[in-house]
Amino acid sequence: MVARAMTPQDGCAWVTGASSGIGWALALRLADAGWQVAVSARRAEALEELAAEPGAQGRIHAFPLDVTDRPATVETLDAIEARVAPVALAVLNAGTHQPMKASDFDAEVMRRLMELNCLSMAEGLAALLPRFREKGRGQVALVSSVAGYRGLPTASAYSASKAAVIAMTEALRPELHDEGILLQVVNPGFVRTPLTDKNRFTMPMLMEVEDAAAALHRGLGSTRFEIIFPRLFCWLMKVYRALPYALALRLAKRMAPSE
Ligand SMILES: NC(=O)c1ccc[n+]([C@@H]2O[C@H](COP(=O)([O-])OP(=O)(O)OC[C@H]3O[C@@H](n4cnc5c(N)ncnc54)[C@H](OP(=O)(O)O)[C@@H]3O)[C@@H](O)[C@H]2O)c1
Repeated sequence: MVARAMTPQDGCAWVTGASSGIGWALALRLADAGWQVAVSARRAEALEELAAEPGAQGRIHAFPLDVTDRPATVETLDAIEARVAPVALAVLNAGTHQPMKASDFDAEVMRRLMELNCLSMAEGLAALLPRFREKGRGQVALVSSVAGYRGLPTASAYSASKAAVIAMTEALRPELHDEGILLQVVNPGFVRTPLTDKNRFTMPMLMEVEDAAAALHRGLGSTRFEIIFPRLFCWLMKVYRALPYALALRLAKRMAPSE
C-alpha cells in the first residue's frame, strides 16, 4: 500500500495550535476546500471565534486541548471521531518559541519547549497511528522550522526541539509510507504571527500568514516529504545547513547578541 494525500472524502482534518497564526489561517483554508476541520488549542474562546468566522462555513469545530496532556489528547481524538468524523489528516502545529541567551541558559526552558514542540507531537502521532493503521491510510504533517536545520543563536531550546521533530519524522516516514500513512514535515521560515510579533529584529523575507497557509495547504495536497515556505529563504537556510562548522559558527557569531 502506498501513501497518498488525504482528501475531504477520507475523513476530517485535525489542526492543533489553531487559536492563532498559521493554524488559524490553515483551518480556514481547509474549510474552504471542503474539509470538516477539528481545531485544538488551549484558548477555547479563540477556537469558538474561529468556528464562527464566515469563512469557516460551518465546517470548523472547536476541541480545546492542552497538547502536552497525553490522556486529554487521546480523549480529544475520540471526541472528534465521535462528533465529526474519523481523522484522515492531522496537522500537528501547536508550538512556541522562547529565546534564551547563553548567559540565561536554563534547562527548564529546554524541558518546556521539548515537551510542547516535540514530545506533544510524538504523543499526537502515537495516538493517531493505530487509528490510521486500522484503515490503511492517513496523513500527518508535523510543523517544525528551518530553525531545526542548525542550532541558531538564542534558540538553543527552540532549535533543539525542532531538529528533533525533523529527525523523528525522517526516521518514521519510509516505514509508514509502505503502510499507506503519509508523514510530512513543515519547515517554515519567518511568518507574521503572534509568535514572531515578539521578535525585536528584522526578519528576512517575512511572509504573511495567509500566504503561508496557502503554501502549506498546497504541500498537504502532495506527497512530498518536506513543505517549505517562503521557498527562497528556506533554500538559503539549507545552504547554511550544509556549510562546514568553521564557517557556519563564524556566521552564527555575527548573529549572536552581544553581551
Ligand atoms: N511564525 C513563524 O515564523 C514560524 C516559523 C517556523 C515555525 N513556526 C511554527 O509554526 C507553529 C505555529 O506557530 P505560529 O507562528 O502560528 O504561532 P502562534 O500564532 O503563537 O500559534 C501557536 C499556537 O499553538 C498553540 N499552543 C501553544 N501551546 C499549546 C498547548 N500547550 N496546547 C495546545 N496548543 C498550544 C497556541 O494556542 P493557545 O495559546 O490557545 O494554546 C496557538 O494556537 C509553531 O509550531 C511554530 O514553532 C512558526
